[in-house]
Amino acid sequence: MLLEIEDIHVHYGKIAALKGISIAVDEGEIVTLIGGNGAGKTTTLKTISGLRPLTSGRITFAGQDISKMPGHKRVLAGIGQAPEGRGIFPGMTVHENLLMGAYARKGEVKAELDEVYDLFPRLAERRTQAGGTMSGGEQQMLAIGRAMMTKPKVLLLDEPSMGLAPMLVAQIFEIIQKINERGTTVLLVEQNAQQALQLAHRAYVIETGRVVKSAPASDLLDDPEVRAAYLGGDLGVDGDAPQDGEPAAKEGQVATPNGDASTREGA
Ligand SMILES: Nc1ncnc2c1ncn2[C@@H]1O[C@H](COP(=O)(O)OP(=O)(O)OP(=O)(O)O)[C@@H](O)[C@H]1O
Ligand SMILES: [Mg+2]
Repeated sequence: MLLEIEDIHVHYGKIAALKGISIAVDEGEIVTLIGGNGAGKTTTLKTISGLRPLTSGRITFAGQDISKMPGHKRVLAGIGQAPEGRGIFPGMTVHENLLMGAYARKGEVKAELDEVYDLFPRLAERRTQAGGTMSGGEQQMLAIGRAMMTKPKVLLLDEPSMGLAPMLVAQIFEIIQKINERGTTVLLVEQNAQQALQLAHRAYVIETGRVVKSAPASDLLDDPEVRAAYLGGDLGVDGDAPQDGEPAAKEGQVATPNGDASTREGA
């Protein structure tokens, strides 16, 4: 396993946000965490990237116990995060924002810059524009691009589709798939459960600080409880539900969000 989270407990003051979460992510996978508001998804990602301390439990990354490692060292070790919200530098240009992503890292940045501009042609067009004047969707692309500049082994994404128009949601999911196909492991938190499950290999359902289900993502697309709670109802209710009773996606290939993906699921 590339990333292994074992029985982690995390508190905000006296409030227990995570009550014994265990999650494993293998190299090359896209794993998604789904769950309602306040379930603990963001806290899980923040704890992996070192922004929240563990009360107990253990996090292992690439064979190393990183439970107590400071966040900036985790970035260097290969854990990249595009935070919920955007967290870009508004006064810096797109290009400068991307360079900031590589700031702490030694060595060449040219290859990564080319890669990010290739993934996000919009960023290439707007490289001299101030980050703060980019549109919401463009800022989201910039945040992901900046995380890619750290050359992560695993990319943590917290609601990359949040607030985006359906067309842009589809684009972001396609880009995440491309990033994964080019060799980056992805841990994805999404409210947009339908599309996240179509994209991911495996998924965990989190409720009030606990994992209540884990399975291949395509199984969860067909799971009645998951459908009722997070996918807005019964099989086939959504216009773009899987055809012929087949799961929409299997290991290694993905039902790419099609242009008409127009419903926001699970709200
Ligand atoms: N800074 C904080 N101080 C106190 N409690 C917090 C803080 N951040 C989160 N919490 C609490 O921890 C729990 C988990 O929050 P978290 O942000 O991880 O949920 P989430 O699954 O990401 O939800 P959402 O889908 O709404 O983003 C919630 O009950 C939340 O109120
Ligand atoms: Mg959250």
